[in-house]
Amino acid sequence: MNLRNKALSATLLLLGLAGCITFSAYKTPKGAEKTIDQRVDSLLAKMTLQEKIGQMTLYTTDWGATGPTIREGYTNDIRSGACGALFNSHTVEFTRELQRVAVEETRLKIPLIFGYDVIHGYKTIFPIPLGEAAAWDLAAAEQSAHIAAVEAAASGLHWTFAPMVDICRDPRWGRVMEGAGEDTYLGCRLAEARVRGFQGKGLGNTDAVMACVKHYAAYGAPMGGRDYNTVEMSDRYFREFYLPPYAAAIKAGAATVMTSFNDFDGVPATGNKYLLNDILRDELGFKGFVVTDYTSINEMTSHGVVANEKEAGELALNAGVDMDMQGAVYQRFTAESLKEGKVSQKEIDTAVRRILRIKFELGLFEDPYKFCNAAREKRELLSKPHREAARDIARKSVVLLKNEREALPLSKDAKLAVIGPLADNTSDLIGPWSAAGSGDDCVSLLAGLKAQHKGKINYVKGCDVEGDDRSGFTAAFSAAQAADVVVVVVGERATMSGEATSKVDIGLPGVQSLLIEKLAATGKPVIVVLMNGRPLVIPEVDKNATAILEAWWLGTETGNALADVLYGSYNPSGKLPMSFPRSVGQIPVFYNEKSTGRPFDPNSKWTSKYIDSPNTPLYPFGYGLSFTTFQYGAPTVHKTRFRKREIVKVQVAVTNTGKVAGEEVVQLYVRDLVGSVTRPVKELKGFQKVMLQAGETRTLVFELGEEDLRFYRFDSTFGSEPGEFDVMVGGSSDEVQHIRISLD
Ligand code: NOJ
Repeated sequence: MNLRNKALSATLLLLGLAGCITFSAYKTPKGAEKTIDQRVDSLLAKMTLQEKIGQMTLYTTDWGATGPTIREGYTNDIRSGACGALFNSHTVEFTRELQRVAVEETRLKIPLIFGYDVIHGYKTIFPIPLGEAAAWDLAAAEQSAHIAAVEAAASGLHWTFAPMVDICRDPRWGRVMEGAGEDTYLGCRLAEARVRGFQGKGLGNTDAVMACVKHYAAYGAPMGGRDYNTVEMSDRYFREFYLPPYAAAIKAGAATVMTSFNDFDGVPATGNKYLLNDILRDELGFKGFVVTDYTSINEMTSHGVVANEKEAGELALNAGVDMDMQGAVYQRFTAESLKEGKVSQKEIDTAVRRILRIKFELGLFEDPYKFCNAAREKRELLSKPHREAARDIARKSVVLLKNEREALPLSKDAKLAVIGPLADNTSDLIGPWSAAGSGDDCVSLLAGLKAQHKGKINYVKGCDVEGDDRSGFTAAFSAAQAADVVVVVVGERATMSGEATSKVDIGLPGVQSLLIEKLAATGKPVIVVLMNGRPLVIPEVDKNATAILEAWWLGTETGNALADVLYGSYNPSGKLPMSFPRSVGQIPVFYNEKSTGRPFDPNSKWTSKYIDSPNTPLYPFGYGLSFTTFQYGAPTVHKTRFRKREIVKVQVAVTNTGKVAGEEVVQLYVRDLVGSVTRPVKELKGFQKVMLQAGETRTLVFELGEEDLRFYRFDSTFGSEPGEFDVMVGGSSDEVQHIRISLD
């Protein structure tokens, strides 16, 4: 830059700064108003009540199947400052135009925040979160969230409504696909990893989006597994099993929290001061803003705790809800409520402050278009490294449930019959909540097999996912008879899991199970590949299949990832994050149950059991096979008695006793043998994933401290109690070896 240009730009800079100071001091990062708090105060002082309420209002755009549209009404809302954030609006082109209205046509030029449900990928789609949880791989979960953030942030977004950290013990609930399964410890670690992945090095970086922990609280425990239904549990149970993942996500720095639709102890979460104020803010120290779920303020009228929407808004605001998603309750009633003294100016200002603070942290006042870069968008979406990561994480998420006669891995020269309604499918592979993902970018299993197979492949659909049509069975049977091995790809449609998809029958839909039975009658090895969003009830499949791979919905790279597993270039290492029941009647069935006063005894009628079914699930939490085998030595500890602030080192030797290298998820469980309140029969307290070459032995060390043994005691304080503990180590929750320790 020559001298003349330098002088010119200095003059422009000064003029620019002067302009900023004159018109909007809050825009100036330097000078008198330095801190974000000061800038927020400066802006707040300029705002009218309606503009403040606008910041507390989030609307969806009308993004339809054919593309983005925005109703004139919403443009007017942005222009008048009646809405401070939008969701379902993405892509650089669309968000840039909306942002332009906000920063050029509104009085105070406050930029908008754009949010979206980026749950398991934005354009490159990763396995559904429940599937990814099966990888027990925190680095992988962080990486997929990071890539999702990179793509979303390149497409104009600032905010994802994820992670969903709701613990769920009931697979009838369709939303179980979006969480980490039944376990609190695994749920906590994944919650942290996902927040780290989304938020990266912090808000304001253009490769990060802010996380929104949802659905606070206990949304995963609706009665009967029916979505949106009442939640009823004791405070102790909530704090012990359901609260920790939310707390972990907040501790990891999640910027926002979403309230849930359900009630909790009789009060809807969206109006629940105990949850939002006492626990979330006072106990957990949450500093970000709280947004409702979709119209959940309005829905408090149906809950029957308020007479009308105006009262609902008051209940929500007084409970600590900062932003109203889509219901426009704050928009329509808060000014009136303020006039009547039902809400205070202080509460409104507090909510607005929390929201503005985040807009400043995102850096939107300096550059409202910093997330709108068309070149970045073009470069990042579905990039080669993103697809490679998706393939790798998809392989890690697969769980081998059964492998008789070493039917897997397949030989590339075998004569293959590939059968089933999901074999040549791409549209379902991205699963529910798949953001900007498209089935068109997915690799079907058939395509994945064809890319690697050398022998003949004969594909027959056989039947549909749903319905009673068996007309394809004969062709499927003939194809199976002519083949060396049969691969059957069955499961659910993506629309059968996700929000509002609770089911009472969670077996394989339609005639798929019958198709498998028919194929098994050929005597050929039948490899079943399952694609589904929840644990299914599949005793018949278990009986008829030679091998079973649980593949969930693996996303964009499904076919390539599954082919890697089926041919053995990737040895499966996934373990179930949720128990697979034998029957719906067993639900809830989960590993960390309490012992009861009459624990199961096969020799006594008067113990806790069913007379027509075992208590145990078909496949338990933590279960998953490999193409190799692992042998566990007896666990040892370096001391059996320990005190507070001391560590017990638990050691276990694990040997790969098979012929190929493989990874094992070594799990550590603990049972508190005597507590002032009943304790679970086992609780996961740690895990390590270890790669072992054939014949290799490694000794793993876990550290247990007093803080790992804490719980909500009889007097409701959180802490440990001295006494004996059973420490268990193994490769599944139902296959462990024990050692005793005691805490003084
Ligand atoms: C309702 C869902 O419960 C929530 O998870 C989602 O983020 C919002 N809709 C917005 O799409």
